Amino acid sequence: MRDQLDRLEHVMLAGFTHPPVVELSERLAALTGNRLGHAFYASDGASAVEIALKMSAHYWRNKGHPHKNRFLCLAGGYHGETLGALGVTDMALFREAYAPLLKAAATVPTPDPRRAKGGETAVELAHRAAAALEAHLLHHHAEIAALIVEPLVQGAAGMVMYEPEYLRLVRTLCDRFNVLLIADEIAVGNGRTGTYFAWEQVTTEHHPRWPDFICLSKGITGGYLPLSLVLTTDEVYGAFYADSTAKAFLHSHSYTGNVLACRAALATLDIFKEDNVIVSNRLRAEQLDRLLQRRFVNHPAIRHLRQRGMIAAFDVEGAPPDFAHHFSCAALERNVLLRPIGNTVYFMPPYVMNDSELLLLVDGALGALDATLAPRA
Ligand SMILES: Cc1ncc(COP(=O)(O)O)c(C=O)c1O
Repeated sequence: MRDQLDRLEHVMLAGFTHPPVVELSERLAALTGNRLGHAFYASDGASAVEIALKMSAHYWRNKGHPHKNRFLCLAGGYHGETLGALGVTDMALFREAYAPLLKAAATVPTPDPRRAKGGETAVELAHRAAAALEAHLLHHHAEIAALIVEPLVQGAAGMVMYEPEYLRLVRTLCDRFNVLLIADEIAVGNGRTGTYFAWEQVTTEHHPRWPDFICLSKGITGGYLPLSLVLTTDEVYGAFYADSTAKAFLHSHSYTGNVLACRAALATLDIFKEDNVIVSNRLRAEQLDRLLQRRFVNHPAIRHLRQRGMIAAFDVEGAPPDFAHHFSCAALERNVLLRPIGNTVYFMPPYVMNDSELLLLVDGALGALDATLAPRA
């Protein structure tokens, strides 16, 4: 970034380009095996979601299906807090005050394994949730532009971790019903779930298909500068490729694709490569798993201890209503920053944490939990 400051600090991407944004787009496209070979930039996660939503509805308009302009999302999904993103965010807390302003999306059931019926496996539940999606699409596909999902982990819903099989079924259904699929990887991308894109865990030899859009932000610059982007396919790009501005995707922000942010993102990708971050994260995640199993698996208040790569979580049974606040304070007293979502305690450790820091984290969480659940005088 220091080097970049001496060359060019900013140019609007409207009508201009610069080498870092080209290189970043090409490197990210390569990470998708060039399946999503086009990139559109913004500065924050919610704007990336807006772009994917607008682009999917506009895609259908350009293809001669202007009535395909509604969206579908998962129960408990979170995609940001601008009006479009809130429309596909199924959280009363964030949505209620603005309900009259929103074009709310329809929701389909989440494949949250905690909702499994007696004896039902997580994969069986994934099939049940997909059957509900199928039933919805059968009736409404003609008006739906896109379905948006948080792949593998629904973060704000309380670190809901579901089976990749659900996303294979979703991809197949979206293809069958001509609905575009948006993978919001703003929280789960950039290596967080164990692969650079969470979607890599969805593809198999028999299910090689990728989503039509991937949104990225948060980890893309290693936390140095705001940047977000949407990756998409030749098919979507092609629908906008025309001389007429009516067909063009008119969307821009002042700092779209800022060159300093792109350099920070390139430096972050370099570190991923040089330090083999995905592999070392795998070892770090295994260590976190061992520590959590040892401390929490037999803890009487713990339910649903779960982990996907560098995200781990458990639910606390019998938690008092003010649990999150008290737990957070008790953790801070132990030099650990943890912010439960309701009664779900979750861990998203930085990728630089070493073994002794992981130990401090897990022991701090255990101490905070016991202090919070202890009867108060
Ligand atoms: C899955 C997901 N989508 C979208 C967003 C919105 O990103 P931003 O806060 O940068 O607008 C977030 C933020 O937490 C997120 O977790």
